[in-house]
Amino acid sequence: MTGPRKLHIKSYGCQMNAYDSQRMADMLAPDGYTETSDVADADLVVLNTCHIREKAAEKVYSEIGRLRLLKDDAAKAGRSVTIAVAGCVAQAEGAEIMRRAPTVDLVVGPQSYHHLPALLEQAKRGERPVETEFPAQDKFNYLKSPTRDAMRARGVTAFLTIQEGCDKFCTFCVVPYTRGAEVSRPVATIVAEAERLADAGIREITVIGQNVNADHGGGPDGSAFTLAKLMYRLADIPGIDRLRYTTSHPRDVDDSLIAAHRDLPALMPQLHLPVQSGSDRILDAMNRKHTRDDYLRVIDRLRDAQPALAFTSDFIVGFPGETDSDFADTMKLIDEVGFSGSFSFKYSPRAGTPAAEMDDQVPEDVKSERLRQLQALIDRQATDFNRSCVGETLDVLFEKVGRHPGQIVGKSPYLQPVQVNAPATLIGTIAPVRIDGTGPHSLYGTSIEEFAKRAPQRTDLAALEA
Ligand code: 5AD
Ligand code: SF4
Repeated sequence: MTGPRKLHIKSYGCQMNAYDSQRMADMLAPDGYTETSDVADADLVVLNTCHIREKAAEKVYSEIGRLRLLKDDAAKAGRSVTIAVAGCVAQAEGAEIMRRAPTVDLVVGPQSYHHLPALLEQAKRGERPVETEFPAQDKFNYLKSPTRDAMRARGVTAFLTIQEGCDKFCTFCVVPYTRGAEVSRPVATIVAEAERLADAGIREITVIGQNVNADHGGGPDGSAFTLAKLMYRLADIPGIDRLRYTTSHPRDVDDSLIAAHRDLPALMPQLHLPVQSGSDRILDAMNRKHTRDDYLRVIDRLRDAQPALAFTSDFIVGFPGETDSDFADTMKLIDEVGFSGSFSFKYSPRAGTPAAEMDDQVPEDVKSERLRQLQALIDRQATDFNRSCVGETLDVLFEKVGRHPGQIVGKSPYLQPVQVNAPATLIGTIAPVRIDGTGPHSLYGTSIEEFAKRAPQRTDLAALEA
């Protein structure tokens, strides 16, 4: 249509946004847009924003401030730059963004990315469109698929959105308002996308959704299709060796999913299962619809089925009304479970959510101190977990070259980055690695194959087996 143009997308927040950013790039590719990592080089800048906590939302306005300067500089050089705000801040505050930030040319909510080319045309005419309706049509039917090369260029692992939105209405959370009600994609389109990914050389798929195990997506005959069933279906695709899913709700972990963790080797033994709090009183006020005990029981059942499972979670400290004793219950739960890592946040009141209206808000300094304590405990557990891997042999899916010459990096089954001195030809393969040590953010190891090649004597092989 037009000549080559450069697109820069900055993605904030969760994996859903990371996935959407790629779909936006795919949507714009036929119009001549290629991606650039250099924002100063871009003709179109898209901010794919997150609204989950106040800090995340505020970041958008400071970023828009920086982009205004960039746009002015470009204009002086006779070049026009278009600025689009997408994602959940766009959805929640579209008109407000336009009012506060005259430099923004268009606002587009997560359900409308397939309209981007048309919205850009409007923006070119100076119309400053804001599209944040929740249209009834399924945007996935309209979004364009990436080319095989684009898929491969993104690496050997991929996200695949199978569900969007949330019907749970936890009292702290904006997601049910920004992303709307739960909608699952039909299984056939999910499988078709996974097959295209496999064909492009992707070896690991993480299926994603705000509430991924509440997936009631239409099966081939229109009947409900559980997440477990989907996992089996995806594992059947030649080339797909690893599967993960995120984020799931403890309430929706059903027997079939637990059995899949036992029986399906492709399902990786790492599970992100947010609990938010260890206090029944707070869980109730959060409208989580599960107790501390329910959570611990789910963990036990999963561990019985798959003893290798490592768990991560999300925690909120300083939810309204949280006392020292409630917080102590959370710390006790962490002790009891033993996590391999976690995300933790200070409660952030979000306009329009019930918790923001609750009376007994917790002072900022109390939140900060609780967060510090909780993170220290989680860090200790993560370090212990990483140390427990030293001496083990783990299968690593190699993803890219490392920071140092001769090094390549991959992920263990537990999602830990593993650095290995090995040839780049191993990228895209899964190989056993003996873990030699741990650093602050990754493990270090020796590829068993490389080890065997370098030291073919019997003694070394014996040492390997020991
Ligand atoms: N304040 C703090 N953390 C929040 N989260 C969601 N809403 C809020 C909020 N208002 C956290 C939860 C959720 C994760 C994605 O973000 O822990 O699981
Ligand atoms: Fe938000 Fe709760 Fe839904 Fe998760 S389950 S997206 S925390 S409302």
